[in-house]
Amino acid sequence: MQYSSILLIVSLAFVKGADVDKKFLFMDSALNSADFPVVGDLLIPELLKQLGLDTLYSLVNKAGLTATLSGTGPFTLFAPTNDALSNLPAWVKKAVSNVTILADVLEYHVLAGSVKSSALANELLVDTVLPGKKLRINLYDKQGTTVATAQCAPIDLSRVDQAATNGIVHVLNGVMLPPAGNIVQVLVECPKFTTLVTAVKAAGLVNALSSDGPFTLFAPTDKAFKKLPPQVLDNLLKNVTALTRVLEYHVVAGTFCSAGLFNSDVPTLAKDTVKIEINGGKVTVNNARVLVADGSVTNGVVHAIDQVLLPPNLVG
Ligand SMILES: *[C@@H]1O[C@H](CO)[C@@H](O)[C@H](O)[C@H]1NC(C)=O
Ligand SMILES: *[C@@H]1O[C@H](CO)[C@@H](O)[C@H](O)[C@H]1NC(C)=O
Repeated sequence: MQYSSILLIVSLAFVKGADVDKKFLFMDSALNSADFPVVGDLLIPELLKQLGLDTLYSLVNKAGLTATLSGTGPFTLFAPTNDALSNLPAWVKKAVSNVTILADVLEYHVLAGSVKSSALANELLVDTVLPGKKLRINLYDKQGTTVATAQCAPIDLSRVDQAATNGIVHVLNGVMLPPAGNIVQVLVECPKFTTLVTAVKAAGLVNALSSDGPFTLFAPTDKAFKKLPPQVLDNLLKNVTALTRVLEYHVVAGTFCSAGLFNSDVPTLAKDTVKIEINGGKVTVNNARVLVADGSVTNGVVHAIDQVLLPPNLVG
C-alpha cells in the first residue's frame, strides 16, 4: 500500500517535470488531417484532373457529386474521356443538360467498392450506385486483340486501375447510358419498332427476349419492315413457324457490342449465320445497315437496322 503510493507520487512528479514528447502528439495530427487532406492523399475528383479528364471533373461538379466521390468509398469509377463526352450525340447532350438525369448517368458510372480490371470478365454484371441498375462487362478477342467494354462503352485498357486514395478509375472511350429495361420493354417503348413488337408477340418470343439472355438483337425498324413486299410480311404474320425463324435470324446468343464486332459470320438462334461487315466505321449485317448501335438494355444489346434479314431458303 505504502509502496504503490510512493510509486504514484514519483511517476506523477516525473510526468510533470518532463518535456512534452511532441512526436507522440497524435491527437493534433488527427485533427489536422481531418481538416486538410494529408500530402499524398488523392481523392477521385482530383485524380480525374490529374488524368486530364477535365470535362468529367466539371460534370461531376455540376451534378453535385464531388462530395460523394471525395467520400471514404472505396469507389470504382468508369471515367469517360473529354472526347467521349464532347462526341455525344445531340439527343444525349440534351438529355443530360437536365442535372437530375446527368447525376443518374454519372452514378451509373460508379461502383461501390474497388473493382480492379483483373476482376472484369465477359458478361459480368455489376451493381452501380444508381439504384437497381447494373452494368455489363464484355471482353472480346477481336482478331488477337482484347477489347473490353462496359455497357458497350470501350474501356481504355492502357488506362485502367488508376489509383486514388478512395478508389480506382478505369478510363472509358465512351459514355454508358442506364438501360430503361430488357429488350422487349425497350422495343415496346420505342415507337419506331411497332411492327417488330407485333411480330415478336405473334411468334410468342416475348418471354424468351425478356429472359436474362444475354442476347444481341438486330432490330428492324418500322421503315425496314415497309421495304418488304406487303405479301411477304402478311404471309409471315400468318405463319408462326416462318415468322419465328425470321425473328430468330435477328438474334445472336451473347452480347455483341459494336466495339466487339469484326468481319465475320455469326451464328444466330435460327442456326443460319449472318454476315457482319465493318467498312470505315459503318456496320452492316447481310445487306442491312446498322442505324443505331449499342442500344442499352438489361439483357444484352440492341442494334437498330434498316432492312429485315431473311434467312436462306425461307418458304412461307
Ligand atoms: C429533369 O428530369 C427529371 C427526371 O426525368 C424531371 O422530373 C424534371 O422535371 C426535369 N427537369 C427539367 C428542368 O426539365
Ligand atoms: C410456314 O413456314 C414454314 C417454314 O418456312 C414452311 O415449311 C410451311 O410450309 C409454311 N406453312 C404454310 C401454311 O405456308
